[in-house]
This record gives sequence, C-alpha cells and structure tokens, in this order.
Amino acid sequence: MVTLTIDGKEVKVPQGTTILAAARTAGIRIPTLCYHGRLDPIGSCRMCVVEIEGVAHPMAACTTPVEEGIVVTTNSERLHRIREDSLKLILVNHPLDCPICDKGGECLLQDLVYEFGIDKVEYQAPKPAREAVYATPLIRYWPDRCIMCLRCVTACREIKGIGAIEIKGEGYGSQVVVIDEEKCQSCGECLSVCPTGALTENLSRFKGRPWLVKRVPTTCTYCGCGCQLELNVQNNRVVGVTTQEGKGVNRGSLCVKGRFGYEFIGSDERLTTPLIKKDGEFKEASWEEALNLVAERFGAIKEESGPDAIAGLSSARCTNEENYLFQKFMRGVIGTNNVDHCARL
Ligand code: SF4
Ligand code: SF4
Ligand code: SF4
Ligand code: FES
Repeated sequence: MVTLTIDGKEVKVPQGTTILAAARTAGIRIPTLCYHGRLDPIGSCRMCVVEIEGVAHPMAACTTPVEEGIVVTTNSERLHRIREDSLKLILVNHPLDCPICDKGGECLLQDLVYEFGIDKVEYQAPKPAREAVYATPLIRYWPDRCIMCLRCVTACREIKGIGAIEIKGEGYGSQVVVIDEEKCQSCGECLSVCPTGALTENLSRFKGRPWLVKRVPTTCTYCGCGCQLELNVQNNRVVGVTTQEGKGVNRGSLCVKGRFGYEFIGSDERLTTPLIKKDGEFKEASWEEALNLVAERFGAIKEESGPDAIAGLSSARCTNEENYLFQKFMRGVIGTNNVDHCARL
C-alpha cells in the first residue's frame, strides 16, 4: 500500500492507483472531462490537474500514479485558473447549440461551464470548416461540438476491440474520421461515452429531452445475453435506449440491435389481431378461430406423421415463464422434444 496526503487527508491505496482514483476513494472530487471509468486514462482535457508538493507543474490526476509520501492539492487559485482556461479553449469555437442539442441537460461540458460560471471567452481562433466525415445511418457526428477528448476512439478500440475511428487533423481543425467504414457496426459505444452532443442518435432526435423522458430499467429482449438497458419513455412511447456505466452483464455496452432496435415497440406495422391465410391472402381472424385452426392442423400432422414431425422454436422476446410454458406445451401436449429458442442461434 502507498500512503499519501490529499487536501490534508491521509489516504492509503494500492500501488499503481492514480491520484484521481485515490482522491475518489477519500471522497474528494476532482473535476474531469475526458476521463471515463471504463477506459484507460486518456489525459487529453487537463480538467483534473492537481498540484504535488515539490513538483513545478500541475499534473493530470487521471494519468499520474500515486507515490509514497506525496502531498497533493486538488483545489487552488492556480488550478481553478488552469481548469477555467481549459474550458475556455474548448469553448472558443463551440456553437451555442444547447437549446437544440440532444445532450443538453446531461452534457458534461455544459455542467462544467456552468460550474465554473464562464459567461465570456476572451480567446479567439480561426474557425476551420469541418465536415461531418464520420456518420452512420444511426449515428450523427457534429464536428463543431467535438471537444477532441478521444473517448469515442478509445472506447471503439478498447471496449469493442474494433478501432473503426480515429482523430485526424491538428488543433481546431481536428475531427473524428472513420478508418474503415466496413468495420463500424453502428453499435453506438462511441456515442454512449461521448461527454458532449458531438455524437448523437438519429432515431431519437428531437423526440425527448433527457429530463423529460422516464428511464425504465429493463432487460434487452434480442438475445440470451440479458444486457441491462433503460427504455426512455415519453408520452407512453419509447423514444430511445440508454445504459448505466458498469451496470449489468454488459457493463453499459450494447450491440446495434439493443441500442437502436426499439422502434418495433411502437410500430404501426405490429399485428394486433391474428391473421389466417385464405385463398392466398391473409385475413383478420379472432383468437378462437386462429387457435382452433392451429390445434386442428397440429392434430392432423401428429396423426399422420407422429409428434416428432413437429418442432417448436420459441422467442427471446418472451419471458422465462412463457418460454417454460412453451417447452411444457411441446413436450406435454404435442409429445416431442423438438423444442429450441432463437437466442441460441
Ligand atoms: S455539446 Fe453540450 S455544451 Fe455543446 S451544445 Fe451540446 S449541450 Fe451545449
Ligand atoms: S458505432 Fe461502434 S464500431 Fe462504429 S465507431 Fe462507434 S464504437 Fe466503433
Ligand atoms: S466525438 Fe465525443 S467522444 Fe469523440 S472526441 Fe468528440 S467529444 Fe470526445
Ligand atoms: S480527466 Fe484527466 S486529463 Fe481529462
């Protein structure tokens, strides 16, 4: 264990711990922007700078490991000025998009600018024309809102193991670009770690502000992994899907289906009544008619070819109890073990 002092408090942490993690252990908050709990420290934003006694320059707490006996200060006039300057440099060309930005209300940059009370930026820099060169049918990139924190690039590489995007360019002309379009799975991992509205979801745009939607925790129904997610509900309609960092077996990650495949829930194309094919055309029928027809056909097949001529495939969208009943029906009523589940495919 290593013993250090942070803001006058003695803290003991294992060797290799960063100053940021040590401060959090002691309940001391250091502002961060590029740091994300699921990613290796990036060290791009300079919001987490701290002073270490005997060290001339402030150090980034998220990338600096603790050392025996060091004395750390997390708050001083100098640190406040450096953090304020870092935010101002980000704001130089940042658009005043908050009223129409999907991230408004849960944007880390917005929160920090508010916390530091920045109401004017005295710096200026030429505004380069940046095109949105990274986009998928489900994800939109807003280069002007991008703060070059690198979270998206790191998440795609470290969490997904894909590495589909990178940062290209220099200074205020930098932007996120796709390295290989075919590699990108539109999984939205990049979008979920982006601290600002630089990556937004196309499907949910303008459908619900973060503070207006109700977030209902549930389990993804697409496959057997059981990923945890939150359905964002407004006016009784699902308008988006979010996750909680580190929560569930998925720890906040989702695949493209889990994150973006929610429109079927409120789709007008969903069947609301059984259909029976008559003379080559589907016609609406009552449940009684439909179930009688199924029972009649199952009975006929069983009599003609035996129960093993029938197989049942159940759905991951059913509950465990419904799937249990389904296999019971196949075994007990039909008389076959030919039963399987789409989540195994
Ligand atoms: S990214 Fe944040 S600060 Fe920028 S426009 Fe969107 S909500 Fe506002
Ligand atoms: S959508 Fe997924 S695969 Fe594509 S860039 Fe983002 S994290 Fe990488
Ligand atoms: S798109 Fe978002 S996560 Fe990626 S560098 Fe820009 S601000 Fe950071
Ligand atoms: S949070 Fe440490 S440098 Fe960004």
